[in-house]
Amino acid sequence: MEIIVQKNSEAATEIVARIVAQLLRKKPDAVLGLATGSTPLLLYKKLAEMKLDWRRATTFNLDEYVGLPPEHPQSYHHFMWENLFRFVNIAKKNVHIPDGMAKDIPKFCAQYEKKIRAAGGIDLQVLGIGSDGHIGFNEPTSSLMSRTRIKTLTPQTRRDNARFFRNEGEVPYHCITMGIGTIMESRQCLLLAFGQNKARAVAGAVEGSITAMNPASVLQMHPVAKICLDEGAASRLRKTDYYRWVYANKPD
Ligand code: PGA
Repeated sequence: MEIIVQKNSEAATEIVARIVAQLLRKKPDAVLGLATGSTPLLLYKKLAEMKLDWRRATTFNLDEYVGLPPEHPQSYHHFMWENLFRFVNIAKKNVHIPDGMAKDIPKFCAQYEKKIRAAGGIDLQVLGIGSDGHIGFNEPTSSLMSRTRIKTLTPQTRRDNARFFRNEGEVPYHCITMGIGTIMESRQCLLLAFGQNKARAVAGAVEGSITAMNPASVLQMHPVAKICLDEGAASRLRKTDYYRWVYANKPD
């Protein structure tokens, strides 16, 4: 894992935006795994401003709430079109987001996995992290080998996400999420985390044991994982000086 600590979220996002842009320039038909939530908002703004060519790119989003139709303002379909896709020249047919209204969820999930494989696998997966360590919506105790499936959101995640809804009662109880095994098959993972409320989860993921109680800790097993943090999210790490030193002395 490469731990990149920057003074603020803007600087950390800049690094991630550059990596994504570089990939899209080098491989115009790249397959990107995308995340939603507050964390990647600035990333998407920066990517939109970069005027990259998305015509041949394919995207797969991590998750979606069960029961929210695509036009619902809090659906992740809506989030992605509102914050990124409407600003870039991506082909609609190349955008994949789990269908929260799928009638047969297990069948839909199996097809989603198949589509990822058919696209050649995910080149780069953008990740956030929940305050409980979740990646995608893989909540604590999720199998580290799991595939795309339906999950129940924890009370903590429902509380964390209530800010996007009129009240907590409106937050769905279930989601469809890519599995941890699915995420681990992507060629590169870029996890972004900002703010002190992520510090405990980040410290567990980076410096703790690999455990299903902190799903992000599985990234310790990923061959190419970068963890991009602001100082708040890094505030509980014990080896920050070491991470800064390594980053400052990277080979060209
Ligand atoms: P956030 O969510 O970016 O809104 O904090 C991250 C996550 O739950 O993965």
